[in-house]
Amino acid sequence: MANLIFAIETSCDETSAAVLENSQVLSNVITSQYFHSKYGGIVPELASRAHIENIYEICEKAIEISKINRSEITLVTATKGPGLIGSLLVGYNFAKSFAIANKAAFLGIDHIESHIFSSFIGQEEIEFPFISLVVSGGHTIIFLAEGYNKIKVVGNTADDAAGEAFDKTAKMLGLEYPGGPIIEKLAKQGNAEFHKFPKSNIKTNPFDFSFSGIKTSVYYFIRDFERNNKQIPINDICASFQRAIIEVLFEKTVLASRKFNCKIISVSGGVSANNELRNKFSKLIDEGYKIYFPEKKYTTDNAAMIGYYAYLKYKHMGKDIADSGILENAYARFQYN
Ligand code: KG4
Ligand code: ZN
Repeated sequence: MANLIFAIETSCDETSAAVLENSQVLSNVITSQYFHSKYGGIVPELASRAHIENIYEICEKAIEISKINRSEITLVTATKGPGLIGSLLVGYNFAKSFAIANKAAFLGIDHIESHIFSSFIGQEEIEFPFISLVVSGGHTIIFLAEGYNKIKVVGNTADDAAGEAFDKTAKMLGLEYPGGPIIEKLAKQGNAEFHKFPKSNIKTNPFDFSFSGIKTSVYYFIRDFERNNKQIPINDICASFQRAIIEVLFEKTVLASRKFNCKIISVSGGVSANNELRNKFSKLIDEGYKIYFPEKKYTTDNAAMIGYYAYLKYKHMGKDIADSGILENAYARFQYN
């Protein structure tokens, strides 16, 4: 029997709603709060207020595009964290009210776990184990995924996330937020060999990341040009910086894949939209690896990935989830086999 799932994501500055029929996305509507760019980063209070203004319309649109009847929805899901607390509360409470009003079950979903599975949206089955690199504005984590509910952290960031390093570097160069897409664009006209920015290593765990050193080194590099009244070679800095970040991400992920003897790698999250990063990982296919990325529209935050992961959880762990009481809403019409 087909399940109809309604999903909401509001963990940061995207308000998004999606409808899925099993693993298939029927609609995925996203609105981004571009006004934050003038502040150089997200202002949490403004973000939650904008979610309140947007959420009703975005949900209506997602249902309209999907052409379903809302009374047919049996599972409602929303991001429960991590994220900005005010922003999360807007989507989470809206979704719970929606579930109660439509007699649907409700399931809160972990944002980062949903990024892990976003590479497989549309697939009914997933091959395990795989190494997952989730690389976004808030997180840079290597996971070993051995099952739908068996996910281990292999390496994490000790300081800045990779996307955050892109955003902060862009700010130092006087570029707009978010920094990743603009740095990627300018890097195309720059020389990646122009300067070797340092690649930090964390002594306690070879799989952990540190990006604050690269960021500080970009700062001093720019300052030297300014002090000497020389024009800042923005394109070359973008290309060299991007190269340094991608090499670190690549090296540590491959190290993890060797350690766990696992030749399936998924790279997801906002930074996985980067084509240089994709090209670098795709070269591993010649060595017998299977490499997965999300479709570009599912790289940055979106409700489709929340709905898909909720579906996977329901499909593979439905009974356990029900027994554990995680599925909320006493009036739900949701049926278990
Ligand atoms: O997954 P996401 O939407 O939000 C978080 O959960 O954090 O990721 C946003 C991050 C931002 O830091 C942005 O600069 C980065 O993804 N990003 C990119 C690219 N597109 C977005 N970084 C590098 N290259 C890109 N093309
Ligand atoms: Zn995210």
